[in-house]
Amino acid sequence: MIFHNQPTISKDELKAVKQVLESYWIAQGKQVELFETELSRYLGSKNNQAVAVASGTAALYLVLIGLGIKADDEIIVPTYTCSALLNAIFLARATPILVDINENDLNLDFEKTKNKISKKTKAIIITHTFGQPADLKKFLTLKIPIIEDCAVALGSKYNGRPVGVFGAAAIFSFYASKVITAGYGGMIFSKNKKLIAKIRDYREFDNRKIYYPRFNFQMSDLAAAIGRAQLKKLSKFLAKRQAIAKIYRHSISADLIWPKNLAGRKSNCYRLLLKCPSPRIIKKQFLKFGIRTILPIETYELLHRYLKQKPSNFPISEKIAKTMISLPIYPNLEDKEVKKIINQLNKIL
Ligand SMILES: Cc1ncc(COP(=O)(O)O)c(C=O)c1O
Repeated sequence: MIFHNQPTISKDELKAVKQVLESYWIAQGKQVELFETELSRYLGSKNNQAVAVASGTAALYLVLIGLGIKADDEIIVPTYTCSALLNAIFLARATPILVDINENDLNLDFEKTKNKISKKTKAIIITHTFGQPADLKKFLTLKIPIIEDCAVALGSKYNGRPVGVFGAAAIFSFYASKVITAGYGGMIFSKNKKLIAKIRDYREFDNRKIYYPRFNFQMSDLAAAIGRAQLKKLSKFLAKRQAIAKIYRHSISADLIWPKNLAGRKSNCYRLLLKCPSPRIIKKQFLKFGIRTILPIETYELLHRYLKQKPSNFPISEKIAKTMISLPIYPNLEDKEVKKIINQLNKIL
């Protein structure tokens, strides 16, 4: 069986976990602090400007709290994304305003976003969809705080700089299927020191002299040690993803493959999608040959469907959900497996 996705785990992670276990300090501690500093450094910051937390969703929630989002504030988000965004916004008692995506980069459509801005708009969450950076420059002109959701975009670049450094704050996820993993986990990054301090304070829920409701969103040192071992290998992981994408690109007609190469934007190749009229049928055919593929976001998962809003108001997201299949791409995938996938694809097509 060729899996659709798989974490890349080796003796480095085993060694890191063993060391933490043997230290007897397994909850949030030194490893978490080092993980934060190392991710900050990767993003070009000398200081620790990051806060490690339990998940990407917790990170999103904490950014909303850090930005002072209150009940009834409006947060603009794409409808073509994961339900975690809705969960974080509703937990913060704010209102999600859904916007369609554009067909080029599968990120928020800029003009449609502008049309949804109101006096209540307090932030825009940009998801760099499947690792393809959004056109941040345009969105930054709107003068509304941009939250970069880099849950799947670690290592992607916009005009030569890593995504995550452009907005008011960014979040990352280290869930099992992400570019690097810690099992579960998340990270907030911001250049705004006050924002980072506020989020850090919210996470430190115990033994506080002055009480107000905080929450245990902490990451364990066990998870952080895995995350650190993975971060050290990020450039290798990215190079392998690029190499696999290159093989797919050489073998499949360019107009059927996503992401496209866009000027100034470099995807981390988190997902490689194939355009096809009936992805469900192709998925079944692949499975017969022992190859797992997925429909990356199914129609029922579109956020406007969850919120019972009219599908006709989100035509591009509807279309993409119905015409895209995601092929295996991850560092563990061997060249011969990629060739097998391509051979079977040619037979199916
Ligand atoms: C775009 C996006 N944001 C946020 C999240 C939430 O991350 P986590 O699963 O770590 O809570 C995900 C999860 O898949 C995601 O795809």
